Amino acid sequence: MQRFLLGVLAVSGLCLASPRKADAATVVTRAANLDESYDYVIVGGGTAGLTVADRLTADGKTTVLVIEFGQLSNSASITSVRGGIGGMTDSSLQFSITSVPQINLRNRSTPVMVGKVVGGSSAINAMMTIRGTAEDYDRWGGFFGANSSWSWNGLLPYFRRAVNFVPPNADVTKSAKISYDTSFWGNTSSVFAAWPSFQYPASTVLLEAFRGLPGVELVSDSGGGKPGLYWYPTFMDPKVVTRSYARTGHYDGLNRPNYQLLTGSKVNKILFDGTTAVGVTFVAANGRSDTNVTTVKVKKEVIIAAGAIHSPQILQLSGVGPKKLLDAAKIGTVVELPGVGQNFQDHTTLSASFSFRTLNLDPSSDDLYSNVTFANWASSMWSANKTGPYSVATGNSGAFLSFPVISPRAAEISSALTSQNHAQYLPADTHPTVVAGYVAQMKSLASALVSNGTAFYNLVMSGGASSGMLVDMHPLSRGTVNIDPANPNREPLVDYRVLTNPLDSLIMTDILRYTRKYHLDNPATKSFGATEFAPGRSVTTDQQFADYLVESINPSYYHPVGTCSMLPRELGGVVDEQLKVYGTQGLRVVDASVISTIPGANTCQTTYAIAEKVSAILEMLMKTGRC
Ligand SMILES: Cc1cc2nc3c(=O)[nH]c(=O)nc-3n(C[C@H](O)[C@H](O)[C@H](O)COP(=O)(O)OP(=O)(O)OC[C@H]3O[C@@H](n4cnc5c(N)ncnc54)[C@H](O)[C@@H]3O)c2cc1C
Ligand SMILES: *[C@@H]1O[C@H](CO)[C@@H](O)[C@H](O)[C@H]1NC(C)=O
Ligand SMILES: *[C@@H]1O[C@H](CO)[C@@H](O)[C@H](O)[C@H]1NC(C)=O
Ligand SMILES: *[C@@H]1O[C@H](CO)[C@@H](O)[C@H](O)[C@H]1NC(C)=O
Ligand SMILES: *[C@@H]1O[C@H](CO)[C@@H](O)[C@H](O)[C@H]1NC(C)=O
Ligand SMILES: *[C@@H]1O[C@H](CO)[C@@H](O)[C@H](O)[C@H]1NC(C)=O
Ligand SMILES: *[C@@H]1O[C@H](CO)[C@@H](O)[C@H](O)[C@H]1NC(C)=O
Ligand SMILES: *[C@@H]1O[C@H](CO)[C@@H](O)[C@H](O)[C@H]1NC(C)=O
Repeated sequence: MQRFLLGVLAVSGLCLASPRKADAATVVTRAANLDESYDYVIVGGGTAGLTVADRLTADGKTTVLVIEFGQLSNSASITSVRGGIGGMTDSSLQFSITSVPQINLRNRSTPVMVGKVVGGSSAINAMMTIRGTAEDYDRWGGFFGANSSWSWNGLLPYFRRAVNFVPPNADVTKSAKISYDTSFWGNTSSVFAAWPSFQYPASTVLLEAFRGLPGVELVSDSGGGKPGLYWYPTFMDPKVVTRSYARTGHYDGLNRPNYQLLTGSKVNKILFDGTTAVGVTFVAANGRSDTNVTTVKVKKEVIIAAGAIHSPQILQLSGVGPKKLLDAAKIGTVVELPGVGQNFQDHTTLSASFSFRTLNLDPSSDDLYSNVTFANWASSMWSANKTGPYSVATGNSGAFLSFPVISPRAAEISSALTSQNHAQYLPADTHPTVVAGYVAQMKSLASALVSNGTAFYNLVMSGGASSGMLVDMHPLSRGTVNIDPANPNREPLVDYRVLTNPLDSLIMTDILRYTRKYHLDNPATKSFGATEFAPGRSVTTDQQFADYLVESINPSYYHPVGTCSMLPRELGGVVDEQLKVYGTQGLRVVDASVISTIPGANTCQTTYAIAEKVSAILEMLMKTGRC
């Protein structure tokens, strides 16, 4: 930490702006009403963007303009916690993007879901509040050396600052046997992590049933940095039982004249003076890219927070990216940064394919759809005081297990990863620095495969007879998000390149084999009538599993990361440890795209923590700036 702070002090020197006129509206609806310049312009009013905007404007002086593609929406599909997937099913709140055909999925294309609304993906996500393990964060810092503050210990204060934990009520804690430990959490943020007042009995029973298997432990809290079985909270404001997200936590009610938000506007370019970012240009969100282009200038910095799909696009359109790609798109190179848009990652998933036919617990989550008596009771509970099943989002318990626990051949797969020729699994023209970054990550993940400190396996509990989503938390394949040279202003070409590293198929196979064991060969679940719908008991060999995966795997858990990775420049990095874009001045990227290696967790909490950590760096810069 010490070395890191000294680094921050050394680069300070910019000044605080003088207070500005206090009559400006907080929401700017027309480009014509903007000021000529701001201290900071933040591109993207999503999860990270609004967090940074809130922290920077708290002094009442620093002027910030957030430019957001989407609108302020009060849609019930955002606010409702019921089922936890309202936002996901509302296409008006998302960009409309499909991946390029996946060569390893017989050219299947899959949806690329990201939020397009004030609040970004935090407005449409499933509200699962999960953190990942200590090793996940130590891995990030490890690429910079042993003393990097991007470590579990270095990030924990920002996890605490990011989320306000409100414990479940005593009744449900006792009846569902929920465990939690407030020492890992904070209580100051306006983004809440809370609990419904109801749990399905199956969540508890099925979690307990895991403990019959060797090496599986119940850990005291989801935020403790250890894999195992745990209960986790929901991004929910417990007072009103609605979604808690970047807009409610970092925008609504602030009414600071120095914090302005422009909606419905698409930033298409960063303006440079040499290599110093001096402003941005934008157009109407659904307008043409070449008409009514508006410019806004910055006194201090441009902060790109457009998410892992669009932040690399904006950098590439601005001449910061792989030179070959920029040349093909006829874009002049400002700074050659081969890593922009590379190292793309997401979690891979399979939907439920197992069921406990005779798990006769009353009530079960399935009853909500099949039992009118129960559904009516649920409705009456909700209308009486926002309690009951309709206060439950996607559920609150899951198994997050390390690879040695689930796979008898963990050591074998780890050593196969070590001895791979890694470069052959990246696109043929990948720059050597990006290849070096991939090799470094694979080395780190080879250790993780034999460590009990990193979770590879995730089964989300469903509260009913059907098993929930199965997730590979650390895929080894890497994709790309690049502008289309023929149509650079259109949506970028998103290529997951899923299963290009052949070991991913073996890892997912062992995830499936273990899930089968949990259901079918587990004394603790014997009486529940376990049934395997897919892949089916006849599927036993690696090849048979591999064939099944080609048909059924989803390359995304809607957690895109890695496309503007925080890594040393010689490892294909795009941003440094202060999230400044290499080779530029006055330009940072602050969002999920800076994550160099995906954590074994849904990515929202981590994104807030990243934004909080960078806000602290910027606050420090402002305090020490000589004016
Ligand atoms: C369907 C879904 C379900 C998920 N479920 C969970 C979950 O249960 N738990 C969890 O932890 N995580 C979940 N996630 C992931 C998590 O929400 C994201 O990782 C996180 O919100 C990303 O934050 P971000 O700041 O990087 O980007 P975002 O929050 O997506 O913000 C980017 C913003 O930039 C705007 N933008 C883009 N391009 C431009 C442009 N050119 N000009 C101006 N503005 C632009 C976008 O409109 C958006 O508002 C889910 C995500 C999705 C999509
Ligand atoms: C997938 O698409 C590529 C390129 O168009 C083509 O060469 C290949 O044959 C296709 N594969 C399948 C299985 O259809
Ligand atoms: C880390 O910090 C310690 C203590 O300050 C120092 O001795 C060591 O050399 C540093 N290591 C690296 C890799 O910078
Ligand atoms: C908030 O957290 C602090 C530090 O852990 C603790 O001292 C305080 O009692 C907490 N406040 C509430 C209201 O829980
Ligand atoms: C991890 O746990 C498994 C199962 O209990 C055990 O066999 C293995 O030795 C452990 N591995 C490490 C590296 O601790
Ligand atoms: C440009 O903006 C002006 C003023 O807002 C509007 O009248 C005009 O129609 C716009 N032109 C185009 C091509 O979008
Ligand atoms: C329907 O739900 C009610 C209330 O939970 C329960 O008492 C009843 O047994 C359920 N009926 C069936 C057929 O499961
Ligand atoms: C909430 O509503 C339910 C059903 O009407 C009732 O049983 C319960 O006592 C209520 N709780 C509170 C705190 O009002």
